[in-house]
Amino acid sequence: MQPAVINIFEKAAKKAGRILIRDFGEIENLQIESKSVGDFVTNADLKVEKSILETLKYFYPNYTYITEESGIIKGDENAIVIDPIDGTSNFIHGIPHVGIIIAKMTNNEITDGIIYNPILNEFFWTSKGKGSWCNDRRLRVSNRSNLSDCLIGTGLPFGERIYKNYLSEIDEILKTTAGIRRFGSAGLDLAYVAAGKLDGFWEADLNLWDLSTGTLLVKEAGGRISKINGEDWNIDCREILASNSNIHIDLSEKLSLL
Ligand code: IPD
Ligand code: CA
Ligand code: CA
Repeated sequence: MQPAVINIFEKAAKKAGRILIRDFGEIENLQIESKSVGDFVTNADLKVEKSILETLKYFYPNYTYITEESGIIKGDENAIVIDPIDGTSNFIHGIPHVGIIIAKMTNNEITDGIIYNPILNEFFWTSKGKGSWCNDRRLRVSNRSNLSDCLIGTGLPFGERIYKNYLSEIDEILKTTAGIRRFGSAGLDLAYVAAGKLDGFWEADLNLWDLSTGTLLVKEAGGRISKINGEDWNIDCREILASNSNIHIDLSEKLSLL
């Protein structure tokens, strides 16, 4: 059964999801403002976040809010982390691979979270000790253990985010696995690792709102998360390596060879 906090997150995400769907249908009319190369903020991001905040503040008026579009709203030791649209570039281009991400964090630990793709009606949720779910289906990571059978997700850097070794990382993973996917939503990439669709995922230069729910989804589905070099992950880390756990050390070694 979904815990109360997940019910409230669901209510907030489904209400905001209606705004997202409407704007997705009218994508041509949206005013697009460019923050930096490839990184857009649309009216939709702002409207969706405003709607989520309205619902959540009614139920949790004293919490701290850490949001992508409105920054930090200081409150008590309980925090809610929000990414109103993860996959904004997909959204702008009419690709229906986007997610609303909401997570709860207490004492620097993510304890509950949701990712909702309103266009495909996929509602992922997880709570510590309660497993990971998509709609009514319990999620489990894949069981593959040979890297050569594994499909690995990543996020490619662009513009100012380009870093020195990314091409060598890709080269190494392409040579040793069944291939790479770049879907454009780090949150959903992690949900796909939890669902056993992707066997692993890595990306650098992310924010807490991209990673929040996804990290718990992977752990609660039996997978493993860490920094790319295999060290423990914590909420201050801006990078992630996630996997079905069988291939974690192999993946980490390949990505740390460079
Ligand atoms: C982005 C997506 C993308 C990842 C970027 C993120 P946004 O989030 O998660 O997959 O590669 O690094 O910034 O901007 O669409 O919320
Ligand atoms: Ca994001
Ligand atoms: Ca976003």
